[in-house]
Amino acid sequence: MRTKIVAGNWKMNLDVRASQTLAQEISMFVEKMETPHTRVIIAPTYTNLYPVYHHTKLDHRIEVAAQNMHQAKNGAFTGEISAEMLLSIGIKTVILGHSERRQYFNETDEALAAKMLTILNNNMEAIFCFGEVLEDRKSGNHFKVVESQLKNGLFHLSANDWKSIVLAYEPVWAIGTGETASPEQAQEMHAFIRTVISAQYGAEVADSVSILYGGSVKASNAAEIFSQPDVDGGLIGGAALVAEDFAKIIQGTL
Ligand code: PGA
Repeated sequence: MRTKIVAGNWKMNLDVRASQTLAQEISMFVEKMETPHTRVIIAPTYTNLYPVYHHTKLDHRIEVAAQNMHQAKNGAFTGEISAEMLLSIGIKTVILGHSERRQYFNETDEALAAKMLTILNNNMEAIFCFGEVLEDRKSGNHFKVVESQLKNGLFHLSANDWKSIVLAYEPVWAIGTGETASPEQAQEMHAFIRTVISAQYGAEVADSVSILYGGSVKASNAAEIFSQPDVDGGLIGGAALVAEDFAKIIQGTL
């Protein structure tokens, strides 16, 4: 059985105190939950990783992830953070290739391919994001775009490397817009993603990788989206900032 995962991407929100409060509130919900097999991940901004992870009383099931990471070991990369720095505070999971990174910070497939190697060299795990923009969907190019993002970002890796990858399909037109892909649209794309992976790596890899859906997942629509056979949970933005909503979304993986 594939692992179900609900990950909250807090983006550039919340100061240190507010981050700790939210983490604690989420933790209190998770403690009482009966979803023992669902991984729960929160991704605060860099400055809040350490206090949230080490100075907040969290349920043991809550994992803390970073929102990005540079591919180089160290050096003259002003404003960036390395794998070693994250590992030194116990962070092993990193969201990579979020559409906001691709769109506003020119993160390319090539850079992401390099970041993946850094992840693997450091025994870390990536939540690798990809997805089409509205024009691609309108022109029927969405499958082609998704396939090329997967190939360019991930297909230089070995089958074994895929144990360290979680995929997050996030149609850009659904992120922060309130517009969600329908459960059928999500399922259709997730099944297609498995076909593409299977053609390169075989059915075992394709069947075992968790594929999350992201884009305006809310407490009210999570359970229906997560009930699709190839949807293994979600990467949540806005609704991850409200503990009760995030808890309901986690509950949606039951
Ligand atoms: P959203 O963001 O849930 O606010 O649409 C999702 C994401 O960016 O991961």
